[in-house]
Amino acid sequence: MNAYPFYSRPVQGLTQGSPRAAAMPLKQKLGSLLARVRADKPRIATLHTESTPGLGGNHHSPPVDERNTHTDHEKPVSLPSPPHQSLAAATAFTDRFKDCGLIAEGGNGVVHACEDLRLGKLVAVKTLSRSSTPLPREVLTLQQLGDHPNIVRCFDVLDDPADPWKQKIIFELCEMDLVDYWETQWPEGTDVPEMFLWHVLKQVGAALAHVHGRGVVHGDLKPPNVLLVPEKPWPRLILTDFGAARIDPPTSVPRCHMGTYGWHPPEINVYGPANDMWGLGCVVHWLALGHEPTSNRDLGPQNADEWFANERRHVPAHTPSPECFKQYCLWHAQHFPVPERIDRFTKYASIQRSKLMNYFMMRSLEMRFWSRITAFELNRFMSVLYDFVQGITEMGKEGVLEHFDEGRSETWECIKAVSDSDIFFQIFTACHSWSHYVKNDRLIGLAKPLLDIMDSADFAKAHKLLGRPMIRGPPAIQELETQLGDMLKDVGPAAQDDSNRENL
Ligand SMILES: Nc1ncnc2c1ncn2[C@@H]1O[C@H](COP(=O)(O)OP(=O)(O)OP(=O)(O)O)[C@@H](O)[C@H]1O
Ligand SMILES: [Mg+2]
Repeated sequence: MNAYPFYSRPVQGLTQGSPRAAAMPLKQKLGSLLARVRADKPRIATLHTESTPGLGGNHHSPPVDERNTHTDHEKPVSLPSPPHQSLAAATAFTDRFKDCGLIAEGGNGVVHACEDLRLGKLVAVKTLSRSSTPLPREVLTLQQLGDHPNIVRCFDVLDDPADPWKQKIIFELCEMDLVDYWETQWPEGTDVPEMFLWHVLKQVGAALAHVHGRGVVHGDLKPPNVLLVPEKPWPRLILTDFGAARIDPPTSVPRCHMGTYGWHPPEINVYGPANDMWGLGCVVHWLALGHEPTSNRDLGPQNADEWFANERRHVPAHTPSPECFKQYCLWHAQHFPVPERIDRFTKYASIQRSKLMNYFMMRSLEMRFWSRITAFELNRFMSVLYDFVQGITEMGKEGVLEHFDEGRSETWECIKAVSDSDIFFQIFTACHSWSHYVKNDRLIGLAKPLLDIMDSADFAKAHKLLGRPMIRGPPAIQELETQLGDMLKDVGPAAQDDSNRENL
């Protein structure tokens, strides 16, 4: 009953007739293509040290972001587009790039792999309609974001030699997107390992924290917009497609015509960072169960205008497209959001994920956007939790990830208020009891970093358990002890006695 068979596991949707299907062989060939290009040409690293002009010979502009660590050539550049295509502009692209084949065709643009003939490296070139602004919105947003390991890098913008109404954006080339990875790595019937779900929360959470910190809302988070670069133990995840993104968007204006149905949050009239968190929850839900958290409701054939009027709804002021808004509302009425737990056996999953993983997925899929976890919280928690869960798994003590009361019912209704910090405290207590019981300090050693993500009350309780003085954070204790030692050395033994007396 999935409205989006394109991304669902039971239906091999993106095969027949899909533009992505046509692109698959190229993706498989990319590895050998890269190897050939590298063998034919001098090494890219050597070329990067040379001072080379920008990718587009017809432009001359300074780099966008001085903070990034790339060579001059690789820096994203700010290039005003000429109002009319010149002959030089038309030839610049063809002189410089050789088309190596289609990667994928999205809703807004077509992406090809191209070889940069001067540098002997492969890049991804997205061709899309020329925007009203000199630079495409996507590029303006990427300028605002600067450099981040989990955000796609844009090198240049050029005119399309074949069509003056089109532009070409030159991006770093990634191996594949999350849909392709999922299909190749975990074919039908195989479950995605839990550690990969933690990896997704950690890396996409880090990307979103950066994006939201710069006042940007991505607005179209879904698996095809997450790219991968091979790394161990898991590929690095790279957020792309900022075509629907907005910088400092007004929260009260619905952006129903942006993004993709099925990955939209339940709040229709609000646009903000919480929408992206819902998208992240959907990605985890889809990886774990093979479908997004939506369910169909049969309303019969409906005309959006009539249905909207019958429902006595109103189009909010400043809505860019009332028609789209009405259709969007109808779509929502036909597909209501129903996140399913992933810590239970279901017909979609033959393995249970931990209760803690389920907790974070559901925190991203909170129906009320104001209580949804933020990217900043998630990023902070994941910096500690990823290593903790990995350590626990290596020890074979995954059981402690179940030892907490989340205060929610089976259907995630709130029964009693339990904070994130309280969950960490409960898990810490479970680790402490186990370590105490078997007289083995390894588990409590792994759990100690959880102190850093607890609030002060839980931190104090946890410290009491350990029987240690209450100073925030282990590094802080060490630093204070060193400082105190130095001060006491300076003032001599008499002062040390005084200080000891005061402490007593
Ligand atoms: N830098 C890249 N490296 C490799 N593949 C890429 C790259 N950029 C995009 N792709 C592929 O092309 C597809 C479409 O790209 P993108 O999402 O940017 O286009 P779009 O038209 O805005 O998409 P949408 O349909 O989401 O609106 C991606 O899902 C991905 O598979
Ligand atoms: Mg896309």
